Amino acid sequence: MNGIEEKQSVRTMIKELIPFNWELLRHAGAEPIPYHLKKWWFCLGGTVMYLFIVQIITGIMLTFYYVPSPEFAYQSIEAITHEIRFGWFIRSLHKWSSNFMIIAVFLHMLRVYFTGAYRHPRQLNWMIGVLLLGVTLSFGFTGYSLVYEQLSFWGATVATNLAEAVPLVGPYIANFMRGGPEISPNTLTRFFILHIGLLPTIAFILVGLHIFLIRIHGIKELNFKNEVMPREKKYFKFWPDHITTEMLVGIVLMYILTICSLIFPLELGEIANPNKTPLHIKPEWYFYFNFRLLKLTSLKLSVVLTGMLAFVVFFWPFIESWLTKKYRFSDRVYTSLGVFGFLGFMILTVWESFSH
Ligand code: HEM
Repeated sequence: MNGIEEKQSVRTMIKELIPFNWELLRHAGAEPIPYHLKKWWFCLGGTVMYLFIVQIITGIMLTFYYVPSPEFAYQSIEAITHEIRFGWFIRSLHKWSSNFMIIAVFLHMLRVYFTGAYRHPRQLNWMIGVLLLGVTLSFGFTGYSLVYEQLSFWGATVATNLAEAVPLVGPYIANFMRGGPEISPNTLTRFFILHIGLLPTIAFILVGLHIFLIRIHGIKELNFKNEVMPREKKYFKFWPDHITTEMLVGIVLMYILTICSLIFPLELGEIANPNKTPLHIKPEWYFYFNFRLLKLTSLKLSVVLTGMLAFVVFFWPFIESWLTKKYRFSDRVYTSLGVFGFLGFMILTVWESFSH
């Protein structure tokens, strides 16, 4: 048998083993993509996905050594940081990548908002996106609590108190999170199961639906007034052109994550002490907004305001079309609303970051 015949018989064998119509895959790969996605900031969803993959890989590596019990959690992280070879690096990569992922999700959401890509027929995909944002923030919250250092322990205490203040269902949510009426060894086990089991499963399902809807609706076409994009090139191919862009972004991100982890490796604070409240409790930076709101108002009011904001963001595509029908607002009004909303978020976040 010569080389060509051998190749063909291997191909035939694979076709027999997996009777899948490969033409379909080739067809899907050749799908034309609007040319503006050549610019990285228009396809930030891919960056989020890339960072999510980094999270899964580094997270699995950390799980080999992490012990989810109050007696050993802190010690196991100490061992990862100081004893296990490259443990500090994997831990730092996991943390840096989580921060970048949250920034990328926010930026992706802003780009979708300011390009109006949430409007008909993509309203459902916007709502799935909002759920993905919630899942991403929950990853951050549960992950931080697993470290079992003073700040993470007391941060979890404040968060479960906030959950308790939700009208009607609050006590049930808080009890579910804590595994009882108070923070106990059950709480850590629950956060661990949420962080490595339930949330990843929900994330996979939602990302699957998100991508499925993107494929059936197609990416929203944008009209550039100033011809930022070349007029003659309206589309390019998903494979290999778009994938090449994504891979380049992935390589650059890997460099950035590595440099950040080398220069600013993750530290470990004091071990959690349920009997000693620290002077200054601080959540992760992406919850500064809520924390400042809490300080400015009250427990109940901050929860109600956050709930209302979440409701408006989730149903925004429908609220907007209702507003347009009733008041005939122009696009400029919605752009200004977005700018004010974003500025409000940034002001509260920066304010909290400079305060004790
Ligand atoms: C884990 C989080 C997320 C992942 C992995 C993800 C992934 C993606 C990808 C790969 C795309 C294709 C185009 C692009 O990259 O922009 C996309 C588009 C889209 N995403 Fe997301 N996304 C996430 C979160 C969100 C959030 C938080 C929102 C908004 C609340 C959102 C709303 C949308 C919409 C409406 C589109 C269609 C845009 C268009 O047609 O131009 N996504 N997403």
